[in-house]
Amino acid sequence: MQTEATPSTWTSGLILAGLAAVCTALVAVTHSRTAPRIAANEQAYLEQSLKPVLQGIEYDGNLSESTITILPPHELPGDEDVPVYRVYADGAPVAALFVVRAMDGFSGPIRLLVGIDAGGSISGVRVLEHRETPGLGDLIDADKSDWIRQFNGKSLASPPVAAWTIKRDGGEFDQLTGASITPRSVIKAIRETLVYYDKNREDVFAVEAEAKAQ
Ligand SMILES: Cc1cc2nc3c(=O)[nH]c(=O)nc-3n(C[C@H](O)[C@H](O)[C@H](O)COP(=O)(O)O)c2cc1C
Repeated sequence: MQTEATPSTWTSGLILAGLAAVCTALVAVTHSRTAPRIAANEQAYLEQSLKPVLQGIEYDGNLSESTITILPPHELPGDEDVPVYRVYADGAPVAALFVVRAMDGFSGPIRLLVGIDAGGSISGVRVLEHRETPGLGDLIDADKSDWIRQFNGKSLASPPVAAWTIKRDGGEFDQLTGASITPRSVIKAIRETLVYYDKNREDVFAVEAEAKAQ
């Protein structure tokens, strides 16, 4: 059976369409007003997250101003895109911060922020994301123990590459009691990042920075 739209149906429809248009306009205005603030907050959060791996380094500008992404296949740990934050002072490179994934953690990948100064020494490492066991592997987290700070100032020259492992395996670095899988994984990833930097330092700083999305 067919029914015809009555005048009151049309009126209701028009009112609903009008309300929908007003709501859409309100959302659009709110978005355009808050978007810059959200972007600024995200920027500030990112800057705060990057600072801990820049111990003792003077730098200028925004840390995320000169970012590049290294695409797979690459020789860095993990098989993902690797963001690299390049850090400068007076126009000269002073550090590069790599976000890499250690693939052989006890409970899956461990995302790391590895800071390397211009001379190739570690300026700091922080665990960004992991699923390691509380009280065992999770001591890699800087909030849980000082373990991750033992890499500050270390390079491929000191200790030599072969010693970039835990003491039990003949290396330089402390293990974690009852949990050697996690430290082996993290140390290997840091070492691989150092090796990559050593081989590709000039390229890392030569590539043009990515345009920022507005
Ligand atoms: C429930 C459970 C959780 C564990 N979590 C971890 C972990 O997060 N990281 C780790 O390296 N080992 C962990 N282990 C221990 C490993 O199985 C392995 O025994 C250990 O890494 C070997 O280190 P060790 O030779 O120093 O004992 C866990 C073991 C069990 C039973």
